[in-house]
Amino acid sequence: MAQSPVTGARYSAGQRSLHWLIFACVLLAYVFINIKGWLPRGDAARAGMLEAHFAAGIAVLLLILPRLMLRLRRGTPAVTPVPPRPLQILGHMTHGLLYLFLVVQPVLGILAVELGGHAIDLPFGLVIPAFHTPGNAALAHSIREIHEDVGDIFYWVLGLHIVAALWHHLFRHDDTLRRML
Ligand code: HEM
Ligand code: HEM
Repeated sequence: MAQSPVTGARYSAGQRSLHWLIFACVLLAYVFINIKGWLPRGDAARAGMLEAHFAAGIAVLLLILPRLMLRLRRGTPAVTPVPPRPLQILGHMTHGLLYLFLVVQPVLGILAVELGGHAIDLPFGLVIPAFHTPGNAALAHSIREIHEDVGDIFYWVLGLHIVAALWHHLFRHDDTLRRML
């Protein structure tokens, strides 16, 4: 009878730390932008939430670079027991989409502000200066709309990813999730 290889291998410590750190930053980016939407216009806290959204998003962009390098160098550990081929393909496709999102979404956000001719105000008085003045309001608006649509679509992709991880653990009883803990 064919046996699945029992490797017990986990993602490397760096890959695990970066996965959960990036998860926290993405979560915060979503939380801050949603709170901003609930606050009344003109409220100082509303501007603060937008600044916090920018900071969380930029942190994602900074952290994704070492993460991609580690991914290229270390690859992924085998899952035990090995999932059926179609499930593996679905996993690879979702992970590819997530990596693309983690790079493209913050870049779109930065361009949405900068191409409008604005500086990026961050918490604690930090500022990334405007690099495209006087700015192109129409282009910035279009990019911002794409950024918002991508943000909305990825609620679903991130949801699928999280449900899949829990499903592997709770119902398939494989070590997909334990490899990332
Ligand atoms: C992974 C990182 C990021 C995620 C997940 C994300 C997600 C989102 C979401 C969900 C929205 C609101 C969409 C809506 O209202 O329907 C939004 C709005 C926005 N984001 Fe991001 N974002 C990220 C990074 C950034 C960065 C780095 C910047 C700029 C430095 C940025 C700038 C903006 C701007 C200007 C808006 C419009 C805010 C407004 O309502 O006035 N985002 N983002
Ligand atoms: C913002 C939220 C998240 C993002 C952007 C994200 C992103 C990713 C990416 C890009 C990978 C691919 C790793 C690789 O192949 O190198 C991955 C793997 C993984 N993630 Fe997440 N993740 C998020 C949240 C979560 C949560 C909340 C859980 C647990 C409930 C989770 C569990 C896992 C597991 C178990 C793997 C390994 C999958 C495998 O190797 O087949 N992730 N994640």
